[in-house]
Amino acid sequence: QYRAAIFDLDGVIADTARFHFVAWQRLAKEEGFAIPHVVDDRVKGVDRMASLNIVLEYTDRGYSQAEKDALAARKNGYYVELIKALTPADLLPGAGEVLHTLRAAKVPVGLASASKNAVPVLQALGVLDDFDYIVDAATVTNGKPDPEIFLKAAHALGVDPSLCVGFEDAPAGVTSILSAGMFAVGIGEKDLLADAHEVFPSLADVSLARYFQL
Ligand code: BG6
Ligand code: MG
Repeated sequence: QYRAAIFDLDGVIADTARFHFVAWQRLAKEEGFAIPHVVDDRVKGVDRMASLNIVLEYTDRGYSQAEKDALAARKNGYYVELIKALTPADLLPGAGEVLHTLRAAKVPVGLASASKNAVPVLQALGVLDDFDYIVDAATVTNGKPDPEIFLKAAHALGVDPSLCVGFEDAPAGVTSILSAGMFAVGIGEKDLLADAHEVFPSLADVSLARYFQL
């Protein structure tokens, strides 16, 4: 039996991956180039600046670090605008139920998201209070696939990493969970998340009783 659950946000709890992609698309278009759809998967779990660097692979133009900072800030402005429309209806299937079941069973719940917008997103979805600890992405030195963010969450929850289950929709996130020594549950497509211990299409397909004392 495991003792704590640690969730990624975008693509696991919140239906926000599409908003990140739309914001990157808008930025690229304004800069005079197009990004292919694979960028949607490539930026999953990847922090803001690293995501920008992936987007900029699709243009020949070089940007200074100051210009990159401005581009990242611009993209974030578009993203923040898009997430203003979020409501509890944007919780991904099963997310609300899973969080409430864990709460009722007194299983500690953490959030390990690369997003600096995690708190407002959770607030808009109405599930902020369902988390015992939210890692501040701004304090993470090494982003996913490094285990740092999942280890920080486990430490704050006071649970040994080997007794934690991590939930992720991104390959980089699954690697982060595995390197942290946790049980990895992939949410999404099996071929994309082949390294995870188990993969389910959504949180609605996960049977919590297999991992936790409910
Ligand atoms: C992750 C997303 O959760 O957060 C990435 O999967 C995103 O696509 C990253 O780049 C950083 O988000 P933000 O909100 O800090 O720009
Ligand atoms: Mg994600």
